[in-house]
Amino acid sequence: MNICKVDDQIAIEVKGIKKNYGHLQALRGVDLKVVKGEIVALIGDNGAGKSTLAKIICGAIQKSEGELYFWGEKTDVQSINHAHKIGVFTVYQDLSLAPDLPVSDNLFLGREIMRNGFLGKLGVLDRKTMRNESKKALAALGIGLKSISVDTRALSGGERQALAIAKAVTWANTALIMDEPTAALGARQSAIVYDTIRAASARGLAVLVISHDIPKMVSFADRIVVLRHGCVVASLEAKKTTLQEVLNFMLGGRGENKDD
Ligand SMILES: Nc1ncnc2c1ncn2[C@@H]1O[C@H](COP(=O)(O)OP(=O)(O)O)[C@@H](O)[C@H]1O
Ligand SMILES: [Mg+2]
Repeated sequence: MNICKVDDQIAIEVKGIKKNYGHLQALRGVDLKVVKGEIVALIGDNGAGKSTLAKIICGAIQKSEGELYFWGEKTDVQSINHAHKIGVFTVYQDLSLAPDLPVSDNLFLGREIMRNGFLGKLGVLDRKTMRNESKKALAALGIGLKSISVDTRALSGGERQALAIAKAVTWANTALIMDEPTAALGARQSAIVYDTIRAASARGLAVLVISHDIPKMVSFADRIVVLRHGCVVASLEAKKTTLQEVLNFMLGGRGENKDD
């Protein structure tokens, strides 16, 4: 991870973010920074406001109050498309993939490379370029698939999720945001996904990952940010904290270890 010395290293900064759903205050003034290349795990009990914060950063919903900065520049993220323009991408399970299309088509879905049509006819998909680019993109992220010409449905759950992340990483140049990226996966399949997330961070993307797998986050992330009742109650360097400490912050005392 990069050491944060200057503001241009801060990919995402959230200041005093509040979100109300009617009378319910889901976020009550959240501050958060994610530095270039840093993996921040956002931890908290159900209803703490994790998904709400992630959705605000990626433009899926609008904040009620507060400020968002990307690379030090104040920006009101209007929509998911707007977030994409800032280089912020979110992965929702593997829902962004079309199961019936080959892997390479999926990486470029919505951003297809076209060849010029013949004599003014409509352009056609440049499959060869897309296949070559896909191979390069997946290899760079350490994702080894038997073939990129297979239909996406033939991949394992972990491979599909890694592909969904690879797709985001291919286009993202600021941040990658993930809400429970391994929720539906077993340990071996999750490992593929974590490797891809690491590769994304090594590439300089700021990574914000929401996960219920707290022991894994303590060993995997650079920093653990704990949300409780819509407030950040801790921001801990992962190497210097323990699972018990994180649980204590998360549960507000209910997680005290009674054995010692
Ligand atoms: N669209 C919504 N309308 C009303 N209340 C919502 C909506 N989304 C979330 N909430 C509420 O906001 C709080 C935070 O939810 P959420 O961000 O999903 O928490 P988490 O992801 O940490 O479980 C919860 O009390 C939840 O019920
Ligand atoms: Mg959630």
